[in-house]
Amino acid sequence: MHRDQMSEITVLPGTNRNGKREGFDQIIIRPGDTLSIVGPTGSGKSAFINDIEVLAQADTVTGRRILVNGVPPSDEMARDPSKKPIALITQSTRVIADLDVSRFLELHIEARKQTHIKDLIENTIALANEFTGEQITRAMSMTALSGGQTRALLIADAILIGRTPILLLDEVENAGIFKERVISCIKECRKTVIFVTHDPYLALSTDRRIVMSNGAVVKVLEPRERERATIARVSEIDDLLWDLRERIRSGDLIGEEDAIDEEIGVPA
Ligand SMILES: Nc1ncnc2c1ncn2[C@@H]1O[C@H](COP(=O)(O)OP(=O)(O)OP(=O)(O)O)[C@@H](O)[C@H]1O
Ligand SMILES: [Mg+2]
Repeated sequence: MHRDQMSEITVLPGTNRNGKREGFDQIIIRPGDTLSIVGPTGSGKSAFINDIEVLAQADTVTGRRILVNGVPPSDEMARDPSKKPIALITQSTRVIADLDVSRFLELHIEARKQTHIKDLIENTIALANEFTGEQITRAMSMTALSGGQTRALLIADAILIGRTPILLLDEVENAGIFKERVISCIKECRKTVIFVTHDPYLALSTDRRIVMSNGAVVKVLEPRERERATIARVSEIDDLLWDLRERIRSGDLIGEEDAIDEEIGVPA
């Protein structure tokens, strides 16, 4: 089976840190679904998306199993990265290859046997630049990119060049990435995305929210319309914090006249 024909991923339960079985039967993730994973530090959020990344078969600490289109993945898919329908980007994802941006992308494009190389390079850099405030150019060295630039470029690369149907993002929100733009882009391209996040806006923006504790999934929430008003409010608060952050960065003194408290108000 080709990875483009992938229609769904199923997560089968494992055990928590005390060996007790998780409280769900199965979690099915279909194309275009957006999920967030929340929970305290050490609760097993990264372990959950790593299980998906490695297509776990009861061979990780959690004991979970992953099915692709309802059946265990082929060995070929598990072994060959170009057959794998999944891209994982974490806070520590760095590219150590000593290449400039355009050569790095070109190698990816060649490996994927895609055409229109020049346009694809331009488009990928342009998309990455929509995700990050620090502009990336084709001549920059990959190793010289900042953390935020690297993540922005890898997300754009996964969307346009890898055309990976499933994106797993592990706490990339602090990297100076415009998260609203990333979310809207991912939704427009009907990508499946799973965010591990501590960010309220991201957590509220997804269709489903998986809550972790002690190594296990303890809740799968589907808020639908119930959180819509809150999302709008959180987005306003985020904008306010964004402005404030920019002003602090550029050396402003923030005076009482800014009346931050009053502007934010108390969420209803
Ligand atoms: N079900 C489990 N059984 C046993 N060990 C587990 C389980 N889930 C996670 N762990 C282990 O617990 C540790 C913390 O888990 P993990 O890194 O996934 O937490 P996290 O929620 O991502 O934390 P943070 O927010 O700090 O990134 C890891 O060493 C992981 O291997
Ligand atoms: Mg983690």
